Amino acid sequence: MAKPRVLATHRLFQPARTILQEHCDAEYWEKPERPPREEVLRRVKDKEALICLLTEKVNEELLQAAPKVKIAANVAVGFDNIDVAACTKRGVVATNTPGVLDETTADFAWTLLMAVARRLGEGEALARSGKWKGWDLDQLVGTDVWGKTLGIVGFGRIGRAVARRASGFQMKVIYTDAVRPTPEVEKELRVEFRDMNALLAESDFISIHTPLLAETRGLFNAEKFERMKRTAFLINTSRGPVVDEAALVTALENGKIAGAALDVFEKEPAIHPGLKRPNVVLAPHMASASLETRTKMASMAAENVVAVFKGRRPANVLNPEVLKG
Ligand code: DGY
Repeated sequence: MAKPRVLATHRLFQPARTILQEHCDAEYWEKPERPPREEVLRRVKDKEALICLLTEKVNEELLQAAPKVKIAANVAVGFDNIDVAACTKRGVVATNTPGVLDETTADFAWTLLMAVARRLGEGEALARSGKWKGWDLDQLVGTDVWGKTLGIVGFGRIGRAVARRASGFQMKVIYTDAVRPTPEVEKELRVEFRDMNALLAESDFISIHTPLLAETRGLFNAEKFERMKRTAFLINTSRGPVVDEAALVTALENGKIAGAALDVFEKEPAIHPGLKRPNVVLAPHMASASLETRTKMASMAAENVVAVFKGRRPANVLNPEVLKG
């Protein structure tokens, strides 16, 4: 019997290819640059599964072009690129890759936090520039991290992994989320709940870990920056549109906050020119980018595809109603 045909819009990593190899006839986009949209639409036509990155819009247009597709497997935990309702309407299973990237992403949120507090970007540029004249008492003085208050917005798996790392820095950790964990979990993680306004007023560092939803789009706007301490820093490793970039630039220009460290942007790969300032650390959406983690993400997507073809329930289904009945 012919194996089901799969389109992967990336070459993936070998372990993912090995998983697919046995059960599927997989076609990969092998080039280093992202495939043009028309190419994805053309190639997906005769495929029964799609493995895609967060840069692919899985919307009506794509689903219409892919009448045989049974599963759209995102190689990312965030799935704002997928119109889940449209998938459900067409009986297409949509999956993501939660869990495997929590610790790596939390590591990177801390990397950004430390970098912006201690002015690493500026220091590195100076060290490489050939203009460094030697040690000076008030050179590149930053802000202490240890002993400060960390505010976490969005207390899911990644937010909690960020919180766990704070104890080594003797920090007070507060969080806000619509869903509160049990008091036992709060105690174990040594965190205290705050409503959003209290968190904004109290935090020295605010790290965002919410998914991009209608309710979180533009969550960090001018009003929020107004409520933050003028000495506070904003760190974002979630999704760019959670922050109103124009409002952030205005807040930075007016000294409403001390700085920001951003891994994600409103209109990637474009970066608001006003963010290219010394007190902003910029990274190109790389928080989960360790070889170990990215390999696991790709393998998880491959396993989800194989599960559907084997009649099993994939581990990470975003629209379980499709599998009922
Ligand atoms: C995700 O998985 O959503 C990240 O943004 C990329 O790892």
